[in-house]
Amino acid sequence: MAELKVLISRQDIATRVSELGAQITKDFAGQSIIFVGVLKGAAIFLSDLARQVALDCTFDFIGVSSYGNRPSPTQELKSGWDSTGEVKLTKDVDQSMKDKNVIVVEDILDTGLTLTVLKKLLLAHQPRTLKIAALLDKPSRRKLPLEGDYVGFKIPDEFVVGYGLDYAEKYRNLADICVVPRE
Ligand code: IMP
Ligand code: MG
Repeated sequence: MAELKVLISRQDIATRVSELGAQITKDFAGQSIIFVGVLKGAAIFLSDLARQVALDCTFDFIGVSSYGNRPSPTQELKSGWDSTGEVKLTKDVDQSMKDKNVIVVEDILDTGLTLTVLKKLLLAHQPRTLKIAALLDKPSRRKLPLEGDYVGFKIPDEFVVGYGLDYAEKYRNLADICVVPRE
């Protein structure tokens, strides 16, 4: 693969994540939070974000996989893809969300399909509040109307890796967010 170009540096990520943490701390002052990370991409964002929140909190994780006609990452890079609206739950949350403040933590908000499905699913648990924290947002790719409540960076329609995000499961451990070049 050609060299990866840094889109968002580790310093800029750290600054923004601490701003989001401060905002959450303010918005939920005196209350507690359940962070629900979407596996696997959100793992790094969740661990950094939660350490910037000065409130009682617990962690949970939910797993999803898109199927239907979601293509391989190579095809996705070349041509993008059209969602069929199918998202499969591979791991449910472990604890009760009833009457709790829940913040779903996702790496990137793209078409909006994953979070639309997750939101519906988690609302069935009757949380007191349900918010979305997404490190990245590609608004130009949206197919379903959905906005994040805590968004790190809006980015153009590029395929990015690093800081939890993968390309065929690789590059999650890069400290910076980088663009994968379209050949
Ligand atoms: P959505 O359901 O289309 O909003 O897709 C969200 C999911 O697509 C994310 O959780 C990622 O797993 C994946 N995704 C979307 N764009 C990218 C990208 O640029 N790099 C890596 N994964 C991505
Ligand atoms: Mg993901």
